[in-house]
Amino acid sequence: MNLTTHTDAARLNLNGSEIVLDMVEGIENEKAIDGLKLRSQTGVINLDPGYGNTGSCASAITFLDGEKGVIHHRGYELKELAANCSFLEVAYLLMAGELPNKGEYRNWEGLVKDNSYLGPSLQELLNHYPVRSHPMALLASVVLSLTGFYGDLGEEKFYQFDMDVVRLIAKTPLIAAHFYRRKRGMGYIYADPDMGYAENFLHSMFSKRIPEERLKIMADALEKLLIIHADHEQNCSTSTVRMISSSGANVYAAIGGGIGALWGPLHGGANEAVINMLEYIEMSGGDLTTVIEKAKDKSDPFKLMGFGHRVYKTYDPRAVIAKQVVDDLLEKLGVEEPLVDTAMELERIATEDEYFVKRNLYPNVDFYTGIAYKAMGIPKEMFTVMFTMGRMAGWLAHLLEFQADENRRICRPRQIYVGHPIRPFVPMVER
Ligand code: CMC
Repeated sequence: MNLTTHTDAARLNLNGSEIVLDMVEGIENEKAIDGLKLRSQTGVINLDPGYGNTGSCASAITFLDGEKGVIHHRGYELKELAANCSFLEVAYLLMAGELPNKGEYRNWEGLVKDNSYLGPSLQELLNHYPVRSHPMALLASVVLSLTGFYGDLGEEKFYQFDMDVVRLIAKTPLIAAHFYRRKRGMGYIYADPDMGYAENFLHSMFSKRIPEERLKIMADALEKLLIIHADHEQNCSTSTVRMISSSGANVYAAIGGGIGALWGPLHGGANEAVINMLEYIEMSGGDLTTVIEKAKDKSDPFKLMGFGHRVYKTYDPRAVIAKQVVDDLLEKLGVEEPLVDTAMELERIATEDEYFVKRNLYPNVDFYTGIAYKAMGIPKEMFTVMFTMGRMAGWLAHLLEFQADENRRICRPRQIYVGHPIRPFVPMVER
């Protein structure tokens, strides 16, 4: 790890005595106080609800500068990767650390294709889920169930890790497509080895109902969307994955937990919530002001979905790419989507409103992606599944990094207790 330690660089005055702590620095000049010794030296902990100011690890996968709107993976700018790479290429980069050469790519893509099937028992398992299940619930629990198929076999775990990675990348889209088809009374479709990753997913969902040319346009857009979703350093679901893995739980348990975390509307579930919000605006006659005022009202839990970000205090660079993908897709498909105009008008009003300006609230990645999925005919309930397919690469990259980190420890935050002080036990008859 390229982590520079500045010994004794931070001085903290605590209860009249001076504590000296080390400072660490990453390669983009981000600095952190190494607080590991804080409690042992002082008995004091760092309280940081929501971990807004806590570095949980050093990582070499993704760099974000939320003030400048910069994101790069392993040193390559996201916009360049989205413009030039396939999703599988970016997944390889995230996990292996370098872009694959031709041979490496052929091998990696071949492994994914070889594992792009759902065996009879996995299909049977999928057939037993209630059709009314939310696909994220189904996905989380089926991924966890893969332990039963591919094993949590003690000493074989580390040997198996690489194949687990391949399986998760290969099978997640097929599980999602199976859900889509079964819900509509349609049978399972086998993946086509001649198709690319996104194309195969669309084919597995829609079969021959989509003319080849349209399928290619949609697949090209989807590859880009999967790339912009692929990784975002220590976000809620990735931190969840790392945390679960820190207990020694297997890869399927960790990823299943990550899927659960991503599902929430403040995280990946926002793409579904954005479309619900835009559709509500349409249905209520295009009343944008009410939505903006509701989002600003502190007594109302409603937030402007697809707006704001913990790290970005400027326009989310992924939202810029997502908007380009939407424009390009609609033009090539020859589709008119009134929700785009509503979204753009909402963005204009919000970004000129003092409330949003003062708080640096801008569109995030989820603001436009749902419109692209809608234009492809993907149902709303599956939008967060699309995010999952992309983020799977990031989760796995972080798991591989975490497993290889010799400094890894079980993740176990502390707390400040604010409950009842210790008191005598009261038997039930006296309560
Ligand atoms: N609408 C209205 N007010 C907002 C919004 C919003 N979307 N986002 C933040 N604020 C306000 C917030 O109420 C707070 O106001 P005040 O300073 O008066 O208390 C201020 O802005 C700072 O926000 P915060 O709550 O400290 O921000 P956070 O870092 O805890 O939360 C967030 C980040 C993404 C959860 C939040 O902005 C939000 O809920 N956005 C809407 C949901 C959304 O679009 N989520 C997708 C995030 S990007 C993709 C991903 O991570 O998966």
